[in-house]
Amino acid sequence: MSINRRHFLINTGIAVAAGAISAAGQNSVVKATLNPAVNDLQNWANVREQFDTISRDYIHLSSFFLVSHPRPVREAIEKYRRAIDDNPFLFVEQNIMEMPARIQAAVAEYTGGKPEEIALTNSTTMGLAFVYQGLPLKAGQEVLTTAHDHFVHHEAIRLAAARVGASVKKIALFEYLSTVSEDEIVGRISKAITPKTRVVGITWVHSGTGLKLPVRRIADAIGEANKARAEADRILLVVDGVHGFGVEDAAVAEMGADFFIAGTHKWIFGPRGTGIVWAKPDNWKILQMTFPAFSMETVGAWMSGTPLKAPMQAAWISQGGFHAFEHEWALPAAFEFHKQIGRARIAERIHALNDQMKEGLAKIANVKLYTPRGNRLSSGLICFDVEGMRSDEVVKRLLEKRIVASTAPYRDSYARLAPSLLNTPEEIETTLRQIKTLAA
Ligand SMILES: Cc1ncc(COP(=O)(O)O)c(C=O)c1O
Repeated sequence: MSINRRHFLINTGIAVAAGAISAAGQNSVVKATLNPAVNDLQNWANVREQFDTISRDYIHLSSFFLVSHPRPVREAIEKYRRAIDDNPFLFVEQNIMEMPARIQAAVAEYTGGKPEEIALTNSTTMGLAFVYQGLPLKAGQEVLTTAHDHFVHHEAIRLAAARVGASVKKIALFEYLSTVSEDEIVGRISKAITPKTRVVGITWVHSGTGLKLPVRRIADAIGEANKARAEADRILLVVDGVHGFGVEDAAVAEMGADFFIAGTHKWIFGPRGTGIVWAKPDNWKILQMTFPAFSMETVGAWMSGTPLKAPMQAAWISQGGFHAFEHEWALPAAFEFHKQIGRARIAERIHALNDQMKEGLAKIANVKLYTPRGNRLSSGLICFDVEGMRSDEVVKRLLEKRIVASTAPYRDSYARLAPSLLNTPEEIETTLRQIKTLAA
């Protein structure tokens, strides 16, 4: 323990004598545990077996909504829960300072980049709020966003802009989904950028249509616009990445975003109530703090009554306040699960199931498929309509057949399916047969 850390712990009253620390505390990172009978995760049936508490009476095509914890994640949560219940003070006290760094390292292995670039949050919503509230936005500047983002993204922008008197511009990224192209999307964003634009806020995969944006190309276009700008006026790219994260075989740190935000309780299969923000240290530095950060630097400044000298950093979000530690600390088990299966294999499998569903839907008379076919402009979400039927009616009729679909919570609300690792090609065929009957 460094002098600084010891001093910090003693002065904040959260240190105990080393000899009094319980044995539970020594077991601070819980390894993912698989059922030994089905531990070869190169086999999709075995991967499905890890979701051993989800009801087998349904075909789950809305798993992106909120995770059913797979076995290794559930067991990690359970081990931490038991240890905390056994001795809340000792176990939490011994692990609270070290644990975020270990989790950051596990996340960074998946995202690329460095552990210190990762902040731990409770959800996509919380990450978006932290980022937009902290951005160095000024009156007269503008946030450019799109007509296709989730309510919580638009609200995070609206609240942050209103606080400082900045304006918000929302643009459509395509004329028709049936003809949308990368060029059209990138061209529309480039055209909408003006000298006032300070932030561009987009969503990697739209949960209202299933459209996937070419984030790298958008980042490059913004990079071009930034060439003529001073550092302090640079346009910042904020990405809500929740529905690509855990699906696509992409390293977040290479995508070109300035701030990448995602919940990890959807496609990553992390504990419910977990999420991350990724940003380079230079970008963390420009965020203003909007939340008391539980760190040596901030507490030290408070105690000594001196101004805080250290710049904002990702870890300060991660350590803010007590929360459901058993969930946060079990997050590495989810990334370990992804690693064992393989990020490229996961992407391939989800795309194959989605292709199967989209090809099938496209052949059914009276069904309109909105989500682009192929992999370039779509990911793991599919939106469609059955002619003459409201989307909630489609969902209700599928549920009668024990197929869990959803509606998209947007003004134009389509029926939505999300084939995932929990599904099989046979389930896709069953679903297509039911939709064909509905549409007949
Ligand atoms: C695109 C998008 N962003 C954000 C959210 C909110 O996510 P969270 O529940 O992690 O806050 C959702 C919800 O599913 C979403 O679809």
